[in-house]
This record gives sequence, C-alpha cells and structure tokens, in this order.
Amino acid sequence: MRNPNHYFKVLILCILAVASTHAQLQLGFYTKSCPKAEQIIANFVHEHIHNAPSLAAPLIRMHFHDCFVRGCDGSVLLNSTTKQAEKDAPPNLTVRGFDFIDRVKSLVEAECPGVGGPYWKVPTGRRDGVISNLVEARSQIPAPFHNITVLQKLFQDQGLGLKDLVLLSGAHTIGISLCTSFSNRLYNFTGKGDQDPSLDSAYAKNLKTFKCKNINDNTTMVEMDPGSRKTFDLSYYNQVSKRRGLFESDAALLNNPVTKSLVIQLLQGSLENFYAEFAASIERMGQIKVKTGSEGEIRKHCAFVNS
Ligand code: HEM
Ligand SMILES: *[C@@H]1O[C@H](CO)[C@@H](O)[C@H](O)[C@H]1NC(C)=O
Ligand SMILES: *[C@@H]1O[C@H](CO)[C@@H](O)[C@H](O)[C@H]1NC(C)=O
Ligand SMILES: *[C@@H]1O[C@H](CO)[C@@H](O)[C@H](O)[C@H]1NC(C)=O
Ligand SMILES: *[C@@H]1O[C@H](CO)[C@@H](O)[C@H](O)[C@H]1NC(C)=O
Ligand SMILES: *[C@@H]1O[C@H](CO)[C@@H](O)[C@H](O)[C@H]1NC(C)=O
Repeated sequence: MRNPNHYFKVLILCILAVASTHAQLQLGFYTKSCPKAEQIIANFVHEHIHNAPSLAAPLIRMHFHDCFVRGCDGSVLLNSTTKQAEKDAPPNLTVRGFDFIDRVKSLVEAECPGVGGPYWKVPTGRRDGVISNLVEARSQIPAPFHNITVLQKLFQDQGLGLKDLVLLSGAHTIGISLCTSFSNRLYNFTGKGDQDPSLDSAYAKNLKTFKCKNINDNTTMVEMDPGSRKTFDLSYYNQVSKRRGLFESDAALLNNPVTKSLVIQLLQGSLENFYAEFAASIERMGQIKVKTGSEGEIRKHCAFVNS
C-alpha cells in the first residue's frame, strides 16, 4: 500500500505553500528569481523521502499551525527570543520537520542568496512574518479536546467553513500522536475515572492495553489512522465513521449534520475526489492572511527575523 508518490505530492504541496491556484504566476516568479529552486526542492525531497516517508505528516501539520496564527507567513518557524514563540506552544511540532525545512532552505539559499525559502515563495509575493507568539498559538490552533462548535468557530475565524474542517481533518490519515493528546478519553473523561462514551469501547480497550497504558504516558506515539498511517487515503474517515477517531475533535465531525454527511459523502466518493477536494481546501488554508508588498520581510534564516 505504500506509495512514495503520495508522500512526494503531499510534501511538495506543503513546501510550495499550495499555491497552485496561482500556478502561472508562481512559475513566473521562480523562473525570474531562482530558476533552479523548484528542482532543488524536488531533488532533495526525492532523495530523502525514502529514508523518512513519515516527514510528510509533521510538515503538513506545520503548514496548518503556521496558517492559523497570523496567517501563512512562516511565523511557526521562528525560534523563541525573549518572548516564547509559536514553536514552543504545547503540543509543539517535531524537531525533524524543522531540520528538514532548514536543510532545504540552506540549499536554496546557497543557490540563490537572499531569495528566500520555497515554502513561502508564492506568486502573490507572500512574505515572512516578524512576530511569533505562543499565546496566540494556544488560542487559535484547535485543540484535540475541542467540540464541534469551537472547531467551527476557530475555522470560521480563519475564513474556513465546515467543509474545510472535514477535509483538512482528513490530514489525520497520516501521522502519529502522543497518548497525552487524547488519554483523558481513555481514563478520565469527566473527572470520574471514566471513558469517553463516544469512543468505540473495543478500540478504547485496545489502546489502553497495547498503547497508552496509563493517563500520564507522555512518550508513546499512536497512529491516528492505524494500519494506514503512511498512506494518504480515505481510511481516516472510515475510522471516524466507526467512532474510532482518536481525538474528540475527530469524533466531533459526527456531531453536526453537515460535517457528518460530508464524512459519509467522502467515504462514498473516490480517492481522486478526496485528493481534489483536499487540495482545494488546503489551497484556501494556504492563502490565509498572506503578507504582500512591504509587509513582513524575506527571512535569511528560517528561525530568526532579519536583524
Ligand atoms: C481540526 C482541528 C485539528 C485538531 C484539534 C488537531 C489536533 C492534532 C493533534 C492533537 C495531533 C497530535 C499531536 C501530538 O500529540 O504530537 C495532530 C497531529 C497531526 N495533525 Fe492535526 N489537528 C487538527 C487539524 C489538522 C489539520 C487542518 C491538519 C493539516 C491539514 C492536521 C495535520 C496533522 C498531522 C499530519 C498530524 C500528525 C503529525 C505527525 O505525525 O508528526 N491537523 N493534530
Ligand atoms: C531553534 O530552536 C530549536 C528548538 O526549538 C533548536 O533545535 C534549533 O537549533 C534552533 N535553531 C537555531 C538556528 O538556533
Ligand atoms: C517542545 O516543547 C518542549 C517542552 O514542552 C521543549 O523542551 C522543546 O524544546 C520544544 N520543541 C521545539 C521544537 O520547540
Ligand atoms: C463546546 O465547548 C465550549 C467551550 O468549552 C462550551 O462552552 C460549549 O457549551 C460546548 N458546546 C457543546 C455543544 O458541547
Ligand atoms: C480524574 O480527574 C479528576 C478531576 O480532575 C481528578 O481529581 C482525579 O484524580 C483524576 N483521576 C485519575 C485516575 O487521574
Ligand atoms: C512526562 O511525564 C514524566 C512523569 O510523569 C514527567 O516527569 C515529565 O516531565 C513529563 N515530560 C513532559 C515532556 O511533559
């Protein structure tokens, strides 16, 4: 079932900030400013994807977290200074993802100094933010315990709708999660040592026996889409429909008639349909509050604002 092409597509999707609605302009931009940029990225991804196929997951998540705080401006990449940055908000992103970005960036920087990294270079002249704030990340990025009302609000605040919520949650078809992101559902849902009744009890039992053996396990990682975590497929929606979504936020998709019927529709449709819809939605996400003109800057190093 493993198909490297899928990882490749997902990675390129992320790194190029999913700007294909403006593909023509984007190609024009690269041709002028750094003709080899796309090839450099493609080669790097191609060389490394076999070693680390699971990188697609942290990268796609990074893109999401970036866009939901001050728009898609790379602010998630900034390191904390005197103030704690988005990067250090709990639960934060994996170090391997940042390393990967830094390595691609240094290759592109070597080829075209000062041109900037490919993941924010888009035709609209998207630029890098200079502010990255932990508190904002905490309040604007949806949490695994959020219910459907809160999720809808947080997406709406970004100009995204219920359909985007369902489609983008589909990214949980790849990747892994720490037990502590959902272990309250297994051990202490309402503070009475109980289990979340909306989680399939056989699945919960399995997780407790083989994965998250106590509520404080903060090291074990669990596949969000078990058995299929490396494949960008529809099986996440299958899990959700069987009440096996890992987070309350996944389960919440069944608690609204619109999102519930979208889950069912996606399951009845083809994989190609899901890809097309997902791509359109992540393109919308990739356009959130992009900085243009003289806003922001073009960072030299991803982790620091220019001095
Ligand atoms: C709808 C609200 C969402 C919530 C509440 C949510 C929450 C989470 C949580 C808690 C984790 C596990 C973190 C950990 O324990 O290490 C996770 C992982 C992940 N999320 Fe989401 N997420 C949401 C939407 C999204 C969106 C929109 C995307 C991308 C389009 C996304 C992509 C991912 C990926 C790929 C992973 C796996 C990361 C890895 O394997 O390193 N999520 N999410
Ligand atoms: C930025 O911070 C991360 C940890 O958050 C660290 O691993 C990395 O080395 C830092 N980057 C630089 C260039 O100092
Ligand atoms: C993630 O957070 C932990 C503490 O919560 C911190 O020690 C670590 O440096 C952070 N990692 C990154 C990449 O910021
Ligand atoms: C959703 O969560 C919010 C915040 O915790 C709460 O105020 C609201 O009552 C909840 N809504 C539902 C339908 O449970
Ligand atoms: C469950 O939560 C309640 C309320 O937060 C707490 O008093 C209790 O100690 C918790 N039980 C366990 C087993 O963690
Ligand atoms: C994980 O849990 C252990 C024991 O409960 C605790 O000492 C440690 O600080 C925790 N680590 C993190 C990163 O939260």
